[in-house]
Amino acid sequence: MSHYRIRGGSPLVGTVPVSGAKNSVLPILAATLLTGGRSVLHNCPDLRDVRSALRILQHLGCRTAREGDTLTVDSSHLTRWDVPHDLMREMRSSVIFLGPLIARCGRAKLSLPGGCDIGQRPIDLHLSALRRLGVTIDEQGGDILCRAEALRGQDVILGFPSVGATENTLLVATACGGVTRIINAAREPEIADLQEYLRKAGASVAGAGETVITVSGELPRRDVEHTILPDRIETATYLCACAACGGEITLTGAEPEHVNTVLQCLSEGGCTVRTSGGRITLRAERPLRGMPLVRTMPYPGFPTDAQAPLMAAACTARGSTVFLETIFENRYRHVPELARMGAEIRVSGRTAVVNGTDLHGAAVRCTDLRGGAALVIAALAAEGESRIEEIAHIERGYERLPEKIAALGGSIVREDGQKD
Ligand code: EPZ
Repeated sequence: MSHYRIRGGSPLVGTVPVSGAKNSVLPILAATLLTGGRSVLHNCPDLRDVRSALRILQHLGCRTAREGDTLTVDSSHLTRWDVPHDLMREMRSSVIFLGPLIARCGRAKLSLPGGCDIGQRPIDLHLSALRRLGVTIDEQGGDILCRAEALRGQDVILGFPSVGATENTLLVATACGGVTRIINAAREPEIADLQEYLRKAGASVAGAGETVITVSGELPRRDVEHTILPDRIETATYLCACAACGGEITLTGAEPEHVNTVLQCLSEGGCTVRTSGGRITLRAERPLRGMPLVRTMPYPGFPTDAQAPLMAAACTARGSTVFLETIFENRYRHVPELARMGAEIRVSGRTAVVNGTDLHGAAVRCTDLRGGAALVIAALAAEGESRIEEIAHIERGYERLPEKIAALGGSIVREDGQKD
């Protein structure tokens, strides 16, 4: 199994570019099924999850190609409308293919995405929204079979501003006659990026970023060229790494507005932040101070995906920080691994109390994508050497992480195994 070997204790200094957003390129790759034409997508990170999504598109009959950070998808001739279990297993967010398959093919068959490391990840909100738009859904032995008997535009109220349910509903709504309003929609920036892509494809969509998104008219059918927005969670991860290690880093190609809750926490922890256009510079004098309560919320609140990276930084602080994870029910699986490095964290239900201290190197293993990123941050700040196992979790969502950390002066080596 591949692993990272990290020697900690040095400050991070330097400049690295932010990659395109995993959580934007995935729904937009699914949305390419709608156009029946050629989509050229720039700033696409080369990640395990992106490769999984491309395998699904190829399975469905699309032609795909990568040239640097540009992906091309031609969805002119689809040959299937099912996503089999082995491809669904690779990436639970493959449920995002449900909407565009229904919209384009009038039917879809997916195996139910299982739960994952951070929670049950149900899809009830997706299914009730699609039924509201006229989709008939049968569940047969772990598969979902959908048919678009008579799609019709409607008001769809989401019980929770689910990102994936918003995206699936939006994608089906582009094939409904009349007007669809998605009420209590997720407001994450990735939704606005998807809206921008759909508009370029000819769809009539407005309101992304607000709580009501309105879709009118028919299926978009046009070749599209689009640039994926920067990855706000990758941005937050490197900022937390510098806050934990000390030093001064600059991130380029970033969108400061999308990480302002994280920047506020780090400023309250004693970091100095400067932003200019797409550049964010963070300067951190060790040790960080304890930070005010960190409550994860739907955007524009504090992002749940940045909870683990910020917790790793809080572990090195002088003082305490309390975390309240309100989005996922099992998102503290990185805590026992951080404790192996000397972290002092008490978890009670959805609350975690971190008392900062000095960390030491240890052998640890990743439990999930963002928990793995937290272990990298802690290892970079710890005295001594750490070995981080099961890094495939990390490579799902962080492009060229060892190279970027080394460019900032961090001591990290990827060893053994082949890149998955
Ligand atoms: C997206 O997942 C992101 N993934 C997640 O990022 C992110 O943590 C999450 O949004 C919240 O911001 C992608 O965009 C690919 P949700 P998603 O539906 O859409 C519950 C990462 O690390 N829920 O907004 O699956 C659900 O269980 C990943 O990059 C239902 O109950 O998230 C959770 O508690 C992890 N029923 C909450 O809503 C449903 O039908 C938020 O889930 C759907 C969701």
